[in-house]
Amino acid sequence: GAAVEVDIGAMKPGEKLTVEWRGKPVWIVRRTPEQLEALKKTTPQVADPENKRTAYPTPDYAKNEHRSIKPEYFVAVGICSHLGCSPSDKFQTGAQPSLPDDWNGGFLCPCHGSTFDMAGRVFKNKPAPDNLEVPPHMYLSDTKLLIG
Ligand code: FES
Repeated sequence: GAAVEVDIGAMKPGEKLTVEWRGKPVWIVRRTPEQLEALKKTTPQVADPENKRTAYPTPDYAKNEHRSIKPEYFVAVGICSHLGCSPSDKFQTGAQPSLPDDWNGGFLCPCHGSTFDMAGRVFKNKPAPDNLEVPPHMYLSDTKLLIG
C-alpha cells in the first residue's frame, strides 16, 4: 500500500494520533519528558529490551530504549503481537484496574492482559510474543512524518 504522510506539527506532549496504514492503525505518540524518563524504570521489567525478537523485527533506527528515531515521538502499529487485539492507552501512572501499583504508563491489551510500556515493549511473562511493531518510517521535515 501507499505510504502515509502525517503532519505532527500540532501534537502536544502526551497526545496520540492514530492514522491508517495498509489497513492497520498506526499510533504516533508524543511522549512527555516524564514518560521518556520512565522507560529507564521499565527496561529491566520488559521481555526484550534489546529488540532481539523477530516476530515483528524492529528497524535498526528504532533499536534503542525509546524504540524510535526521535526520543519524543513513538510510532507503532496499534495491534497486539499475541492475537491481534488493539491495546488501550494507559498513559496514567500508578495503580489502576488490571495494572501493577508501580505502573509507569503504557498500553494494556484487553484480550489476554499483555501490558506494554510507553515504547511498546511487552512486559515479562505476558502472552504477547513480541513488542509492538514499529513500522518503517522517516521524517520529511520537523513536522512531517512518512509512514511506509
Ligand atoms: Fe493481546 Fe492476546 S491479543 S494479549
